[in-house]
Amino acid sequence: MRAVGLEQVAPLIQDIMLSEQRINTERELPYWYPLSLATYSSEEVMEALHSLVTFRTSMWEKTRSFEEAFGSKFGGEAVMVNSGSSADLMIAFGLHKLSGGPLETGDEVLVPAVTWPTQLWSLLMAGYSARLVDVDPETLNVDLRDLEAKIGPRTRAISLVHLMGNPVNMDAVREICDRHHLILFEDCCESLGAQWNGQFIGTFGQASAFSFFFSHHITTLEGGMILTRDSEFAERLRLLRAHGWSRNLRNPPEVSGGLDPRYTFLSWGFNVRPTELQAGFGLVQLGRFDAFQIERNANASIAIERLKPHREQIRLMSVLPGGSCSWFALPLTVDGDAPFTRDQLTAHLELSGVETRPIVTGNLARHPAIQGFGAQLRVDDLPGADYVHENGFYIGLHPVRSNQSLGRVFDLIDDFIASSS
Ligand SMILES: Cc1ncc(COP(=O)(O)O)c(C=O)c1O
Repeated sequence: MRAVGLEQVAPLIQDIMLSEQRINTERELPYWYPLSLATYSSEEVMEALHSLVTFRTSMWEKTRSFEEAFGSKFGGEAVMVNSGSSADLMIAFGLHKLSGGPLETGDEVLVPAVTWPTQLWSLLMAGYSARLVDVDPETLNVDLRDLEAKIGPRTRAISLVHLMGNPVNMDAVREICDRHHLILFEDCCESLGAQWNGQFIGTFGQASAFSFFFSHHITTLEGGMILTRDSEFAERLRLLRAHGWSRNLRNPPEVSGGLDPRYTFLSWGFNVRPTELQAGFGLVQLGRFDAFQIERNANASIAIERLKPHREQIRLMSVLPGGSCSWFALPLTVDGDAPFTRDQLTAHLELSGVETRPIVTGNLARHPAIQGFGAQLRVDDLPGADYVHENGFYIGLHPVRSNQSLGRVFDLIDDFIASSS
């Protein structure tokens, strides 16, 4: 970062942020153990300020640098967008015939029933039909037997999700896709850095989506990324990201027919560009990623140890051998035979100052938004997703040492279980 005089402001910004942090800590906040904590400091703010004071705010060189750094770390060509949902949307549209892709309106795509809804909406918006697949309540990820059973004559693709940082068994999924000639794409919005047998998730299919929302593994406040190993597909995404405008391609083609190369449109498209402020944030955050992972893993280990005595009543999501989890949060499932319900436990935690959430949508099929798609969306019985819906919840997992506060959370759980038995 270089902007005349800007470095003089840095200590001031740092002081302001530290004093705001102190005020927040002293203030009576509703939760002493919130879902997420801010992970950025004055360095990220200074990067954003630098873009503002140098009048370089629209997508430009910082975006390109962040894309290159992200792509070389996680293994592919990266295209940044303004959210994880936009990344899902660009993949869905990028695969459509009208963008030069292999899928057509009406083709069926399978998608897990417990996920963030924009993963499903993007498929429906792109004109595909979708079928919800059940999940395994132990891993929270797709139930492979149900996945294979639901492959029908119109199925052309699988839109997978690695929920809560937990990698799906990618050997099995790849084998299913290869045997049935299905296109695979991955939603990795909750799982940056997770690996299957030493390979980063997000690199097993045509493309993958990542989110940099505030509470995610790294943040650009709002923001997302698409990763692909197919350069031609990456170019298509660059067109879709910005109006279908040739100017955004790495290698714009020659145009004729009296068109001005500055205003030539090669495809349909959206405007889901990120700003340089977000990309600058991302560059700094990416540098912090490995340190964040150490803290997340340390906190997850505390949770695993503290829950061992309660295995019969509450279980943490299980990670398959071969999987390296990139813990997004601490997802817990109350056993159906436990002497208390999920709702009783979460009410106790909430009243005691621990913020909780359901496992994302629970069973997506149970939401009002699902109505009205008719034959475009197939929903069958989803017993695994129902189990997660009724018995699952999560608490935060912070990328900072929080042994003390996390220890207090588990003291509360110990006391609650002792008083319920
Ligand atoms: C699995 C999954 N997919 C997609 C998204 C959408 O990301 P964003 O909030 O950046 O739009 C999220 C958001 O949390 C998510 O968890």
